[in-house]
Amino acid sequence: MFEVEQQSITTLIQTYCAENDIPAPQDLQWKPIPFSGDWGISTSFFQIAAQEARSGKKVNVPARAQEIAEGVASQIGTPEGFSRVESVKGYLNLYFSSSEFSRRVIDTVLEDGADFGHGEAKAERVMVEYAQPNTHHSFHIGHYRNSILGEVLSRLVEFAGFDTIRASYPGDIGLGVITVLWAYDKFYKGQEPEDIHERGQWLLKLYVEATNLLTPKDDETPEEKAQRETYDAERREMYRKWDAGDPYMRQLWLETREWSLEELRDILSMMDIDIDVWFFESEVDKPSKAIVEELIKKGIADDERPEGGPVIVRIDEKLGLKKEKYRTNVILRNDGTTLYLTKDLALAKEKFEKYSVDRSVYVIDIRQSLHMQQTFAILKLWGFPQSEKCHHLGYGFVSLPEGAMSARRGRVVLFKDVADEAIRRVLAEIAEKNPDLAEEARMDVAEQVGLGALAYAMLSVDNNKDIVFDIDEALSFDGHTGPYIQNAHVRASSILRKADELPAEAAFDYELTPHEIQLVEMISRFPSVVQQAAKEYRPLVMASYAFDLATAFHSFYHAVPVLKAETEAIRAVRLRLIAAARQTIANALRLLAIRAPEVM
Ligand code: ARG
Repeated sequence: MFEVEQQSITTLIQTYCAENDIPAPQDLQWKPIPFSGDWGISTSFFQIAAQEARSGKKVNVPARAQEIAEGVASQIGTPEGFSRVESVKGYLNLYFSSSEFSRRVIDTVLEDGADFGHGEAKAERVMVEYAQPNTHHSFHIGHYRNSILGEVLSRLVEFAGFDTIRASYPGDIGLGVITVLWAYDKFYKGQEPEDIHERGQWLLKLYVEATNLLTPKDDETPEEKAQRETYDAERREMYRKWDAGDPYMRQLWLETREWSLEELRDILSMMDIDIDVWFFESEVDKPSKAIVEELIKKGIADDERPEGGPVIVRIDEKLGLKKEKYRTNVILRNDGTTLYLTKDLALAKEKFEKYSVDRSVYVIDIRQSLHMQQTFAILKLWGFPQSEKCHHLGYGFVSLPEGAMSARRGRVVLFKDVADEAIRRVLAEIAEKNPDLAEEARMDVAEQVGLGALAYAMLSVDNNKDIVFDIDEALSFDGHTGPYIQNAHVRASSILRKADELPAEAAFDYELTPHEIQLVEMISRFPSVVQQAAKEYRPLVMASYAFDLATAFHSFYHAVPVLKAETEAIRAVRLRLIAAARQTIANALRLLAIRAPEVM
């Protein structure tokens, strides 16, 4: 928020260094000084002193840093907009007057509105890949965690200033898909449910049944064994036909795939997610075969087919690593079929070349960590500079308290069921708490709050950790929850409605209470939180911030009179502070893909 000041002081420092034969500071870092009597910004001179030391001069780094800080401080005096400047232990600290700082923060928020906190345009393009469940399967709560993390990350990097592309990559082919097709075609053709949210679950039931029929049993009779082997041969034949482009198989596959995609699109639109680019696993299969040839030619892959083996990449060896890290990967089986990894290579190439992606983020189950690291390592061997800017955002498992879910056993927790239940409960609560709310508005608010609670429950836990999702906890209005944050927005909206008009300006020139200071402080941090969350690819950073901001607001709300403030001038300040808090909460919630209701 104080880029202008930081920039002009950076220039002053550069001039000072040039005049005094001190190495020019590269990329001077500024940090806000948290409130302790007043606000400020700070930078240090250790790097410069260390650079001098490295260049052969005999210097004591801390003492030299302090010496430079003192020199700079005496040269720049007290620049415009600041109340005092000091040099301490190698740091240069510049302090604002509190009333000036507060007024500036609040004015900026109210001027920028929904744009408050938006970072400057950055020269890089980011692609975030998420919401890529396998088809022929239902959308479960784990997919939901994936989708919400990916969407929030997209919103964060976009708002931070990156050119952002949202991509999906459904797994639409593989033995699992063929297994479902086999069972459907053989036993159930034409019996599919009408409701789009039931088809996925139904296909999953078929998958479980089929897997059961196709898995060897300990006590199987010779007849059972023969039966199972026949089934398996049929399934394999189906895969072969699919691969050869057999029209019947392709049609069957496309039709059933569309059921899953229809459900996926429906859920994504409910989550307010708009995917820009759809990649499909089936579509990168062919290009990935060509890549295998290229990697062999470049000496990155070893072709062991002549000896009856596969095509492999000895990643560690090719990278010159002594210790085992990435191991060796098969990229083409001896029968000429590709693997998940091979397709990921083709996908990455497409992302880099066709979409000019500089940073590529993958939101994928944490159990695929090694796979992702191997993919990135091969991309590096292959010579893609972007491989250094590939990032796997892994996430842990989601279960309900009653027990884990497993697709194989068919006990899946469907997102739609959980969402419907959350909305139903909020609806009941609103009917009780706020009976005056019109029927239609009630449904709308229930959706906002129910879905907000789900989203926050996913986002407020470190992505790497597993989640045991407790719906009662998630819906609580006064826990570490979405509704708690939404309620801060509701309360702010309600005061502002009662006040009728928002004063156009206010001078923060009285002794601010600790609650006011804390709220100003939290609001002022928002732009840097956006940058931090985007830079670290961590939605949790924003989720935690939103909670802290809401907490600062609730405390202020309970302790400080606004409509009945001591004087008209103080009332004006507090109303503007509330309006700025409301705006910042709304912006934070929007980045978390959570709606900000006016009433609840
Ligand atoms: N469809 C895969 C799954 O459900 C996730 C795809 C991950 N993306 C990738 N580029 N490998 O596990």
